[in-house]
Amino acid sequence: MQSSQNGERELFKSRAGFILAAVGSAVGLGNMWRFPYVAAEGGGAAFVFLYILLTLSIGIPLMLSEFSVGRGSRLSPIGALRKLGGPWWSILGYMYVITGFIILAYYSVIAGWVVRYAIDGILVGFPVDPGEQFGIVTTGMSPIWYHLGIMATTILIVSLGVQKGIERAALVLMPVLFGILIFLAIWAFTLDGAMEGYVEYLRPSLGELLNPKILSQAAGQAFYSLSLGMGCMLTFSSYLSDKTDMGRESVTIAASDFGVAFIAGLVVFPVIYALGIQGDVSESTVGALFIALPGAFVEMGAVGRVVGILFFIALIVGAVTSAVSLLEVVVASVIDEFKFPRRAASIAGGVLIAIMGLIPASSLDLLGLVDKLAEAMLALGAFFMAIFVGWVAVGAADEMKKGAGERSKRMVPLVMTAVRFVLPPMILFATVYAFIAVVVEYRSAFGG
Ligand code: TRP
Repeated sequence: MQSSQNGERELFKSRAGFILAAVGSAVGLGNMWRFPYVAAEGGGAAFVFLYILLTLSIGIPLMLSEFSVGRGSRLSPIGALRKLGGPWWSILGYMYVITGFIILAYYSVIAGWVVRYAIDGILVGFPVDPGEQFGIVTTGMSPIWYHLGIMATTILIVSLGVQKGIERAALVLMPVLFGILIFLAIWAFTLDGAMEGYVEYLRPSLGELLNPKILSQAAGQAFYSLSLGMGCMLTFSSYLSDKTDMGRESVTIAASDFGVAFIAGLVVFPVIYALGIQGDVSESTVGALFIALPGAFVEMGAVGRVVGILFFIALIVGAVTSAVSLLEVVVASVIDEFKFPRRAASIAGGVLIAIMGLIPASSLDLLGLVDKLAEAMLALGAFFMAIFVGWVAVGAADEMKKGAGERSKRMVPLVMTAVRFVLPPMILFATVYAFIAVVVEYRSAFGG
């Protein structure tokens, strides 16, 4: 199993296993918690349209770029970039690992809140005063314990390896998530305020489309949601066989990710509008949905309780499979670079991240700031990935064609043109905006 030591890298066992693991990485808090309110804030249907456009024009070429580097080198980010680009490029790999550290440290904290909501929902029901409850869930020792619980689960799955841990967890968990979400969307359709909710979610405000802030937010959301810009898809693809049609898989993964985000919006908005509590959401802080949704569930009595529990369970599933992919980037790098056995690498990396997470676990303002910082680092990482694949690494196009069907093969020149000429300027623009957003957030949270 310690494949890197005998030169035989462990591979995904099945096509479904890889796809579900990658979709498991992509689908998470970003889809079910971030997307609905970012979309509503950013112009409804106009935003959704823009988001689809960006997913197709930037997301898929970038995912394919990461795939070509990962499978082309069969290494985790640091080694892969060094092998294909020389020693200087390994610095980008280190940046990816640091980004993974930062994201998982706060991602796990939010996932921990979700677990607490689910457990409370099962044991005592949803809170009558959701604002107060949010305060209880996010302060003191509670967020710390739940964060540590999430990290322990994540470490366990990753330490079991690619097939027995990551692939198996995704094969079992992801269908559960899809099932729950579809059930919830159908149920939400039957609510009284459903239409109003859909309208608010999707009413196009075209003016927002030309707003550069919205454009960069949509790009940032796309990277975040598709797990791009920190070598995560790169790492997963390093466990792929040469027979995989990576073009086709990238489309499947991106479409599933968008589908889940879109459907999550179809659940969240009717629920919120059925109860007329939209004011709670429009504040759009980290906590908005955590306050508005439980408030809605409690109003709906017994049905609300069941539905709410299911919603939070789906969120836990998404969050855990995403956390697994984040830790895998760190662990794979430690295995490849320092020849640690997988179990030791998982525990060492995971425990360090768990300790780092104690900081965002104890300050909401800081957590919001780190979320913005993560987005900016992803954009920066994505920018350099595009430069690397478009202009530095040789043979990326050939790697994309390997194992590809006719249709995917024909798309490769178009993808490469996008990677070279379209992605760098667009992503650079998004990066600059994202770093400005970090400064703005810092000023507003810490009064600098
Ligand atoms: N995509 C996940 C979500 O939407 C989060 C995530 C997992 C991620 N791995 C990542 C984000 C790698 C950026 C990079 O919740």
